Amino acid sequence: MKSSLLCFAHRGASGYEPENTLRAIEKAIALGTDWIEVDVHLAGGRLVVIHDETLERTTDGTGSVRERSFAYLRSLDAGKGEKIPTLEEVLAAVRSRAGLNIELKAPRTEAAAAHLLEAEIKRGLDPEGIIVSSFDHRRLSRFRRLAPAIRTGALLGRIHPGAAAFAESSRCFSVHPALGLLTREFARAAHARGLRVYAYTANTEPEIRRAAGLGADGLFSDFPDRVRAFRDSIRGPI
Ligand code: G3P
Ligand code: MG
Repeated sequence: MKSSLLCFAHRGASGYEPENTLRAIEKAIALGTDWIEVDVHLAGGRLVVIHDETLERTTDGTGSVRERSFAYLRSLDAGKGEKIPTLEEVLAAVRSRAGLNIELKAPRTEAAAAHLLEAEIKRGLDPEGIIVSSFDHRRLSRFRRLAPAIRTGALLGRIHPGAAAFAESSRCFSVHPALGLLTREFARAAHARGLRVYAYTANTEPEIRRAAGLGADGLFSDFPDRVRAFRDSIRGPI
């Protein structure tokens, strides 16, 4: 079990504040998270930070994110008076105080994200502080071709024998399996290929303990402080 287990605040510290908002990001940083994960869609040519394709669950708006105007999205309440942030705003808010994992949720997000991140790197953003991930591995490969300096992570909703090999052949930095699908064998196979294993989503102490015991290098959690507390508890006295 690793005493270096990383915590990824899932959608920001979404167990405490409205998910994918600047408020959830600030909370995650205040809790001392290592990384922050956010989800991105495209609306009116802009990268917006929201999980669902539709607006109803997390905002007071209606309809599909990609069919609505950017101005309409920005008029909505994403919880506690927060606006749906743009990816630019999230990058500016994080300012290297934590790593940022950007999950590409929708078609054409890869080109927009590559363009934005390459420009930010020219302005001084450390590429090692960014991981771009997706369940859509072709989208991830396209992103990789457009922005080779940025690390990529392959999200796996289900594990199949070729998954780790795929992630390696597409030159991913990491694989991000669903928690229930993480096994010791999978973690070993991924590690043998030089991949980090970051599993999602561990919210309870037994979940965190089990995933850490199976060999995860990091865990996504709505409560990143719980991952930190677990890590501290296994480190013991220095
Ligand atoms: O990136 C880990 C996790 O966020 C993937 O699932 O549905 O919460 O975006 P989801
Ligand atoms: Mg996500």
